[in-house]
Amino acid sequence: MSAAEIRPANAADLPLVTGIYAHAVLYGTATFELIPPDLAEMTRRFDALKHGGFPYFVAALDGRVIGYAYAGPYRPRPAYRFTVENSVYLQPDIHRRGIGLQLLQRLIGESEARGYRQMIAVIGDSANAGSIGVHAKCGFQMIGTHPNVGFKFGRWLDTVMMQRALGEGAETLPADAES
Ligand SMILES: CC(C)(COP(=O)(O)OP(=O)(O)OC[C@H]1O[C@@H](n2cnc3c(N)ncnc32)[C@H](O)[C@@H]1OP(=O)(O)O)[C@@H](O)C(=O)NCCC(=O)NCCS
Repeated sequence: MSAAEIRPANAADLPLVTGIYAHAVLYGTATFELIPPDLAEMTRRFDALKHGGFPYFVAALDGRVIGYAYAGPYRPRPAYRFTVENSVYLQPDIHRRGIGLQLLQRLIGESEARGYRQMIAVIGDSANAGSIGVHAKCGFQMIGTHPNVGFKFGRWLDTVMMQRALGEGAETLPADAES
């Protein structure tokens, strides 16, 4: 199999991105959404991230999109503006071939280049070894677990918080330090 290409996402990628996420919503516990968003909603989310200055990448194998990753606002209040929350999803039959790692590494590099200072992963389900593992491999540290904050597929679910400094992290002040 050829190597995955990691590249910025564009609107034409969104039908496949929508399908990948729909599978995660319907069959997985990484996301706490219960109803898969349709293409129009995924397009609205993509546009909001793009216009907000956040990075969004896809992974393609032989030209076909098989995964994606993006960073978005961690929380909306303005003092959080240097902190992003990340998302990464792959087509299920392509797991454990290093592509999640490639996507996340590219996302980290681009987020650093755009001046963000912290990246937070809010991982659905303590049993999500793949997500916890790929974040640990990218230098994320375990912050803690919110026990039993979700309910999906008839059971209570934790969220696992992991975090990684980006670039100079908190070692220097941001450009607009006076505010
Ligand atoms: C999480 C996810 C993106 C990881 O992508 P992936 O391509 O399968 O992972 P990679 O092959 O890049 O793995 C990189 C490293 O992560 C760790 N890892 C990945 N899957 C793992 C698993 N199931 N168990 C333990 N460690 C795992 C390993 O350290 C691995 O390196 P190694 O294979 O050399 O040991 C993918 O499994 C996925 O899409 N899962 C469902 C959705 C999801 O949970 N998304 C995250 C939302 S926060």
